[in-house]
Amino acid sequence: MPGVVIVGAQWGDEGKGKVVDIYTEHADMVVRFAGGPNAGHTLVVGADKLVVRLVPSGILRPRSTCVLGQGMVVDPTTLAAELAELDRRGLLAGRDLWLSDRAHLILPYHVVVDTLREKGAGAIGTTKRGVGPAYEDKAARVGIHAGALADPARLRAAVEVALARWAPVVQVLGGELPSADRVLADVEPARARLAPLLRDASAIVDDALKAGKRVLFEGAQGTLLDVDHGTYPFVTSSSAVAGGACTGAGVGPTRIQSVVGLTKAYTTRVGGGPFPTELHDEVGERIRKAGSEFGSVTGRPRRTGWLDVPALRYAARVNGFDGLALTKLDVLTGLPEVKACVAYRTPRGETKEFPIDALDSAEPVYRTFPGWTEDLSKARALDDLPRAARAFVDFVSHEIGCPHFVVSVGYERDDTILLRSPFG
Ligand code: GDP
Ligand code: IMO
Ligand code: MG
Repeated sequence: MPGVVIVGAQWGDEGKGKVVDIYTEHADMVVRFAGGPNAGHTLVVGADKLVVRLVPSGILRPRSTCVLGQGMVVDPTTLAAELAELDRRGLLAGRDLWLSDRAHLILPYHVVVDTLREKGAGAIGTTKRGVGPAYEDKAARVGIHAGALADPARLRAAVEVALARWAPVVQVLGGELPSADRVLADVEPARARLAPLLRDASAIVDDALKAGKRVLFEGAQGTLLDVDHGTYPFVTSSSAVAGGACTGAGVGPTRIQSVVGLTKAYTTRVGGGPFPTELHDEVGERIRKAGSEFGSVTGRPRRTGWLDVPALRYAARVNGFDGLALTKLDVLTGLPEVKACVAYRTPRGETKEFPIDALDSAEPVYRTFPGWTEDLSKARALDDLPRAARAFVDFVSHEIGCPHFVVSVGYERDDTILLRSPFG
């Protein structure tokens, strides 16, 4: 069954956009299965740069069908704006793009709640896109399916119920909710644009897999932001791990052929929460500059730090990685030395495990590697890498116990060492 899942192994922004775009050359369908407009996946081809939030990163390849799965939360206005931009670039002509009728809607009141909460003591640094409150509605069994976009009367009734439910919360938070008329008027242009795209996404993906088509399942966020397996409560509200591809796209685990985990050659995080290998010095600043580490959704500077091998081993476990995509190796070029956390010192002794529930009291143990100064962007095989960079790459794969499928040495499509196709 030619289904391949690609997920972030860290706190997001590992380069999923770039790697999914590369793999889509060999894929017939790309399915986003989780998250919403909190995601920002960057695609760069020549001088052209595009950041997609909701639409799958396969969108640049004309042959691929794009599907937004039922595990997603979709802000209709954001999606319609994204489609308008893609249309302007001529990327939608003659293409199949479908939205699951069981994906959940993010509506303006979700954004109001998310934004108000982020002003208060419980703020965790969300993207303020309404993602958390929309998933809350889903879990509370009062969410609104995207399918309601095809039925204005059903949509109005559901919005009225939702507003009544959120009213006391918003009152306590000291804010104001929009009226139902306002919500419906705001959503109307997007409603008309999106209604024709609604489908039973699970059936579409299943048909493709049965026909032997190659399907990529594109993760959003990353393992450490997953609601079950991440650094709770500093997480997003969705299932970002590989297992989420099955529930979020509506296919069984037997349909997945392989799982690829993405990691940068260092670590970043946006928003609050523990980050043991974070750098607060000029090295962290240098990595932020060299890697352009500023959020693609919010523009916030990303926190930067050394690679965390125990965290990656943990990610390999909870996702079942078959292969790794190591990105942004070039960003470390020019540093006199490169470090990686290989273990943690905890009150209970040293461990090679990731102490996910005791990160505040855990101290990273580092291994130091010699740096390199050579430009990596022309490397197309591991043998093209300078010896010090090659040693670091081999170390990562050895420590995680997983082969590299891709090593990325620049943001351009071509700046890539392609080692193995996940489709075999
Ligand atoms: P995503 O959310 O995982 O898709 O990642 P983002 O797009 O939010 O952030 C990754 C950033 O790194 C983007 O600006 C990419 O263009 C860029 N990028 C991806 N791979 C590489 C690489 O190997 N080297 C460099 N320098 N930039 C990269
Ligand atoms: P991609 O797909 C990095 C983070 C937010 C915040 C936490 C909760 O581009 O890798 P939310 O708005 O989801 O309720 O915020 O999760 N976060 C991300 N960080 N990349 C992302 O997506 C993220 N999506 C959410 O910064 O800490
Ligand atoms: Mg991103």
